[in-house]
Amino acid sequence: MPATTSVILNTGAVMPTVGLGTWKSKPGQVEHAVEFALKNGYKHIDTAAGYQNETEVGQGIKASGLPRDQMFLTTKLDNSDQRHPAKALEASLKKLDTTYLDLWLMHWPAPMTRDGQADKEHDWLDTWKTMEDLYLSHPEKLKAIGVSNFSVEYFERLLKVARVVPAVNQIELHPSCPQDDVVEYCQNKGIVMTAYSPLGSDNSPLLKNETVTKIAAKYDVQPANVLISLHANKPMHTVLPKSVTNERILNNAKIIDLTPEEIGELHDIDKTHHFRACHPSWTGFGGLGFPDCK
Ligand code: A2P
Repeated sequence: MPATTSVILNTGAVMPTVGLGTWKSKPGQVEHAVEFALKNGYKHIDTAAGYQNETEVGQGIKASGLPRDQMFLTTKLDNSDQRHPAKALEASLKKLDTTYLDLWLMHWPAPMTRDGQADKEHDWLDTWKTMEDLYLSHPEKLKAIGVSNFSVEYFERLLKVARVVPAVNQIELHPSCPQDDVVEYCQNKGIVMTAYSPLGSDNSPLLKNETVTKIAAKYDVQPANVLISLHANKPMHTVLPKSVTNERILNNAKIIDLTPEEIGELHDIDKTHHFRACHPSWTGFGGLGFPDCK
């Protein structure tokens, strides 16, 4: 199958396959990165209240001159806002200087207090119910809702009662963290996967991995292009390479077609070189049901 340039969500909306990731993009750098990306062909930007850069992302969008309806914009409900999603939604819209979100995700199934402690008195399922209410009553503000960092175990609880099937599950995905179980589960439910940290985040060993560099040499591209293209070569996948560097932002938009054998070789990396750039235990809720985090 040739690599995709977009996928269709369960709402019918089109989501461009490659989006600019902004986790760890600092306020001083992210405005330029977003502006540069949108001026150079990107049509999908991902941010989160928790990244504390929504205001600058909004400024980058404005500076790009690209009309709002020609891009796909995602942000996420912060863990510390799970007790008041409506207020948090208004704050994100204001910071991003937009009237609507293409996608609003629950960032983690892990409510937290303002001072960063696990809020075990609050159930993330109640947060989802409020997100559903907001989505159903404000279609002009929310075009789709979804989740992030959800394992199969957590989905099973969610889908028993959900009135709205999440459009997307955004999780860490790369050859050292392929998460086949939750990917297969979501695909069976029509939920699009979005890969964050597709390069393995900062100083990633994947950029020097010999399987990755061998495939990159064959196609005369950078290792990053192989790692990003891996997701574009799978059905119902989108991918968020993060960069604040002009030449990398330009480079990372180049997608190549991979053979099934190459995809298999990339998946085999996990057998000997497993890692996560972001372990869910930081939330205070343990491994959140992910089998490799038990
Ligand atoms: P920077 O933002 O300074 O350009 P991930 O997308 O997996 O989170 O990885 C992001 C990290 O990879 C950042 O440190 C980013 O650096 C770096 N990066 C982004 N694009 C490339 C590239 N084409 N080659 C090497 N490193 C890259």
